Amino acid sequence: MSYRNDPYDPKQVALLDQRALDDAVEAAGKAFAAAADPDALTALRHQHLGDRAPVSLARREIGALPPAAKSDAGKRVNEARRAIESGYAARREALEREHAERVLAQERVDVTLPYDRRPRGARHPLSTLMEQISDLFVGMGYEVAEGPEVELEWANFDALNIPPDHPARGLMDTFHIAAADGGPAADGGETGSGLVLRTHTSPVQARTMLTRQPPIYVVVPGRVYRTDELDATHSPVFHQVEGLVVDRGISMAHLRGTLDHFARSMFGEQARTRWRPHYFPFTEPSAEFDVWFPEHRDGPRWVEWGGCGMVNPRVLRACGIDPEVYSGFAFGMGIDRTLMFRHGVSDMRDMAEGDVRFSRAFGMGN
Ligand code: DAH
Repeated sequence: MSYRNDPYDPKQVALLDQRALDDAVEAAGKAFAAAADPDALTALRHQHLGDRAPVSLARREIGALPPAAKSDAGKRVNEARRAIESGYAARREALEREHAERVLAQERVDVTLPYDRRPRGARHPLSTLMEQISDLFVGMGYEVAEGPEVELEWANFDALNIPPDHPARGLMDTFHIAAADGGPAADGGETGSGLVLRTHTSPVQARTMLTRQPPIYVVVPGRVYRTDELDATHSPVFHQVEGLVVDRGISMAHLRGTLDHFARSMFGEQARTRWRPHYFPFTEPSAEFDVWFPEHRDGPRWVEWGGCGMVNPRVLRACGIDPEVYSGFAFGMGIDRTLMFRHGVSDMRDMAEGDVRFSRAFGMGN
């Protein structure tokens, strides 16, 4: 019977030498300390604690020792291994803590910072009101029509039976577009360019009749211009909504019913219109109408609202429609005014300034 390690081979057990074990512990400690992150550390584990690591190889050699030396060698190998393992564990813990701290710092959110308060903008109440009115008429079968803001003098005036000597055509009210080769005529009459900033939405009546055949049911919201200074009750730019109906057998009763319905849906069930005789060149007969507004901030009252009438046969004819066959009604009113009295806005400038807080006050934010 002989021992496997007979004859004793001192080279083979060199790994069990205490210096070699100390070196292994030291080398592992240095390597672990140099690992920059948990993954790098994991990659070192095999080298210092795996099957081929010095401490593992040393353990295997214990078997080759004489029985008397085994216990001491086993203790020393175990100690070395434990030292490497605890060094590994300590380094792992430190790296994981560092890593967690770094991630926390990187992903930190300062909840005390003020949030982004930049205003997002809001729909202007005039836009919203024009849309509401359009929707109401669309619900009655009307179409929405539009026209240019730089308009032919012909459409803005002539077609609507407003002759060249009519005061509304003077420079007093109308922004004229200068001709390419000079400014407006000094007498305030024709300008040479033949173009104006439209002073009302009524020219769209003419444009519509020229491009569509009756039956015509259109509603025309839009921006208009007059040479007024901006103050609490005037603005050089404002808004109107125009209505035009041309069909067989249209009477003033239809106009009345339409405007009363319009009034009720804008101002409540008790609202109705009151008419006063008036003159407009493009309607005959013509009227101005007031609306009974029970919720006016100064108490229930009649408020001046707009103009209306039966389309003047001269206008129908100018637009190629036979007045013997067709008749029509038209109406127009100021949107800015409507918004003002409906919502108690007392200063026109609030509507022009574009301060988003004004729009938001109408619950039309975003
Ligand atoms: N265009 C007129 C204005 O700006 C308002 C108006 C009156 C329009 C009577 C109409 C109408 O369609 O029939 O003062």
